[in-house]
Amino acid sequence: MTTISEQDITVEKTQNSKLKDTDFNNLPFGKVFSDHMLISRYKEGSWSIPEVVPYQPITLDPSAKIFHYGQSVFEGMKAYKDDNDDIYLFRPLENCKRLNISSKRLAIPEIPESYFMEGLKKLLKVDQDWIPTTSGSALYIRPFVFASGNGFHASPANEYIFIIATAPSGAYFSGKVTVAIEEKYSRSANGGVGYAKAGGNYAGQFYPTQLAIDKGYNQVIWTDDTTHEYIEEAGAMNIFVRINDTLITAPTSDRILDGITRKSILEIAKKEGINVDVRRISVKEIVEAAKNGSLKEMFGSGTAAVISPISGFGYKNKDYTLPELDDSYANKLKTLITDIQYNRSEDPFNWRTKID
Ligand code: PLP
Ligand code: COI
Repeated sequence: MTTISEQDITVEKTQNSKLKDTDFNNLPFGKVFSDHMLISRYKEGSWSIPEVVPYQPITLDPSAKIFHYGQSVFEGMKAYKDDNDDIYLFRPLENCKRLNISSKRLAIPEIPESYFMEGLKKLLKVDQDWIPTTSGSALYIRPFVFASGNGFHASPANEYIFIIATAPSGAYFSGKVTVAIEEKYSRSANGGVGYAKAGGNYAGQFYPTQLAIDKGYNQVIWTDDTTHEYIEEAGAMNIFVRINDTLITAPTSDRILDGITRKSILEIAKKEGINVDVRRISVKEIVEAAKNGSLKEMFGSGTAAVISPISGFGYKNKDYTLPELDDSYANKLKTLITDIQYNRSEDPFNWRTKID
């Protein structure tokens, strides 16, 4: 069966809800988990009908291929509650499609769209009280697929597990973000897996990012792997640069994640009459713009990070500080996109999906 409806999904409710022990006024990012999760298993060539079950550990054989060959992909999305306690998702089909694009690249079987979408809706209904309403918070949703099949042979597994787990979450960054523009390491390469949300892409970033953190920065801005002369994206965000009044972001490629926030911001900015340029941006151009004062803003975009202003960057042992603007594009675009997400404004692009 490849098309299911919500009624096909069974629910096993937890006997030990953690809801009343959770402090919704003090939510970290992605550390507190809701009571239930969705799970489907791939065996003998097909996915099982997803089930909602209590959030719980999973048991794997030590030879499960996820441990050895890193076959794992994930997504990041959010559920939002408006003032009437109605629940909304933002462009959820884009996440479903991207999960399958990532899976294909990692030789993981794709999940049928209805398993993802109907499963997610059912899970959100069961755990609707976990969607926070405190300002700036949302229910972070983490769909993921990994190889549970066994064996040391370096080849794709024959069994996989798909899970959607959720976490009521506050802001990803606690304050302004400073970045180091990477001069040595690469996140991805032509023909590689950079465009996929593969777990290994993040593992490969941790060491260079820690070196940047040790120098006092929060994040790395990755540059192209051949010349390190052009900026690409950050650890968990796409990057926008404002020079004078033009908003610039790098084109997507097989090295860059095709961010849903990024493409939404591009559309909102165009509608607002902001001059938008999707093109390669050299580090030289950014440094020169910082020196001559035409570099007005830099910010990152992503589901977790929403829009995170960058207050400064480091490059070749020099630090550059960005000005503080009252009328920043970052603030304006953040208000516009979150107003759509939280159902505080019209939805001219038809991006919201109401869960009912
Ligand atoms: N780039 C990377 C490497 C990411 O991990 C993310 C987060 O998902 C993004 C960009 C932003 O993508 P999106 O806006 O779809 O969340
Ligand atoms: C997201 O923005 O949803 C992400 O996946 C970022 C994550 C690596 C924290």
